[in-house]
Amino acid sequence: MRDLTFALTKGRLADQTLALLAGCGIRCEDSWEDSRKLVFTDPKHHVRFFMAKAADVPTYVEQGAADIGIVGKDVLLEEQKDLYEVLDLGFGKCRMAVAGFPEGEALLRQRGDFRVGSKYPEIARRYFLDRHQQPQILKLNGSVELAPIVGLADVIVDIVETGSTLKANGLVVLDAFLEISARMVVNKASMKLHAERINELIRRMSEALTRMEDEG
Ligand code: PRP
Repeated sequence: MRDLTFALTKGRLADQTLALLAGCGIRCEDSWEDSRKLVFTDPKHHVRFFMAKAADVPTYVEQGAADIGIVGKDVLLEEQKDLYEVLDLGFGKCRMAVAGFPEGEALLRQRGDFRVGSKYPEIARRYFLDRHQQPQILKLNGSVELAPIVGLADVIVDIVETGSTLKANGLVVLDAFLEISARMVVNKASMKLHAERINELIRRMSEALTRMEDEG
């Protein structure tokens, strides 16, 4: 039987994703931490998986290099790839927000003569376009909160989880406009070719999520 390949997201979703897979009985042979290996297998369940940067997960799945992906809704909205989103995993919850110094609120009411720093330039562009605003959008790759502090941007569009990074830097949420959580996505051809196995996996994942919620 052919292995089903999972693309998982490195970083903040990793622990809960591995706990969810373990809840379905899927475990890798080797430990993630002590190895430079990139691809791991669970031969018993004919599953293999790898960790990738969040923004790359939809590409691996759309292209069929992975059958299944676990990734945040923020990344799916930014990347807009052609794949099926089959399950809301309910963890990795955060909000997508416009944030900045409290004075930033007045700027947002202008027609668009301001600068926005974001790891999510597409989401930011669409948010402002809906409001008939076309600010300059600057693509950043991390530590986005720096941008208003050092004068690179007037506001940022970013995910806010606990709010502690904003608070520690004197910034506030100006408009929280999207609820985000981790999702399971499936390659379109894989969904047809391996419908039975993938549907069974979706069912087991849903059950594992319910059990994990009940256990707190
Ligand atoms: C994310 C996000 C914020 C922070 C929000 O960054 O871009 O900076 O987390 O979390 P909080 O509301 O709980 O403070 P991440 O930690 O992923 O790192 P990065 O800035 O390097 O992208």
